[in-house]
Amino acid sequence: MMIKINECDKLSISKDAVEKALAIRADLCEDKEAFTGWTNWPSTMPSGWMGQMLSAAEDIRKKCDKLIVIGIGGSYLGTAAVIEALGGSKPGCPEILYAGNNMSGYYHAKFKEVIENNDVCLCVVSKSGGTMESRLAFSILKDWMYEKYGREETAKRIVSITDPAKGILREETDREGYVNFEIPGNIGGRYSAFTPGIMFPLAVAGVDIEEFVRGAKDISTDDAFWQEGVKYALSRYALLESGKKIEVFEYYDPSLRLIGEWCKQLFGESEGKEGKGLFPASLTFSTDLHSMGQFLQEGSQIFFETIFDVLNRKDDVKVPESAGAELAGRSLNDINAMAVKGVMAAHAKASIPMIKIDVDEMSEYALGQLLYFLMMTSAVTGKLMGIDPFNQPGVEDYKQEIRNLLGQ
Ligand code: PA5
Repeated sequence: MMIKINECDKLSISKDAVEKALAIRADLCEDKEAFTGWTNWPSTMPSGWMGQMLSAAEDIRKKCDKLIVIGIGGSYLGTAAVIEALGGSKPGCPEILYAGNNMSGYYHAKFKEVIENNDVCLCVVSKSGGTMESRLAFSILKDWMYEKYGREETAKRIVSITDPAKGILREETDREGYVNFEIPGNIGGRYSAFTPGIMFPLAVAGVDIEEFVRGAKDISTDDAFWQEGVKYALSRYALLESGKKIEVFEYYDPSLRLIGEWCKQLFGESEGKEGKGLFPASLTFSTDLHSMGQFLQEGSQIFFETIFDVLNRKDDVKVPESAGAELAGRSLNDINAMAVKGVMAAHAKASIPMIKIDVDEMSEYALGQLLYFLMMTSAVTGKLMGIDPFNQPGVEDYKQEIRNLLGQ
């Protein structure tokens, strides 16, 4: 496995607790409950889908230099997080841009300026097909493309990814004949990392999606790994029960910033229910040590830390002579690794609970394992808390208020 979980043992997790968490995982993998289709999906995805995605991605690559992914929450964050973690689109592949993840007129006006002189295609991702942000951006960008390419050519530049059977995007897709892929009915947005909603745009960016899904498949079927793996969920639950309110995700490389955003969505939307849940926050180190480092060390101790540590980095920089004798000649990655150790030593003195998740390398295979691991952790913790990790009833309230104001 590319993933190792450290420090959990310090929280003294009992054998019974491990058995309980393993039983929850086994239940989830039975896929009898609504929205648990993701648990086995890396192994059960229909065999033809991979080839279809790769060949459609090849077509889109020939047509554009920018692919615009229209989607919000679980319908775009996985794509953005994986591409950013891998350092952007592969050479010769279109840059991936994102729209429809907010309702800012300013953002979308500026966005049109950015794409003005580019050849673009759209990938609209919406499981429900009716989400306001993505609907708005889709109609704005379609209109813009009608002007530029005409209606017929625009339809050839759109890939739609939605529910197989229902929703207004499904109706439009069938009517207009867009190239399309499905997000299976029994997989919800934030658990859709290994569905076409995330994997198709990854393929356009040149990400090796076969390796990505292979990583997920290997971790999902490795029962021995989960003997240790469930300890992360158990630690999170124990820390919540002990009065901690916030889980701070930390990483020592800005390229993991969107993995932090993805975690916030996964854990926040899955677990924040019935007055329960850990508030997920994220910090980029060493940047944020120069602001939040003070709070962590000496502020209100309502949090614990989960540190993502990428152990082997290919790209590195040697520090030049001019940096001074004690730093000259050293590798920047080694100095960054010292920062991980140093910060953890300081935080241990302040008795801050820490969980460290080591990831061997930043590759498609490792990311497949990491994302699946985090999805299972979120679902198991939710079950330990006694809530349904797969619904989001609270989201409906603000949506209704906005609809009321718009007179819908
Ligand atoms: O996890 C979720 O269910 C949500 O964050 C959704 O992904 C988000 O609201 C977008 O929904 P949809 O794909 O239906 O447009």
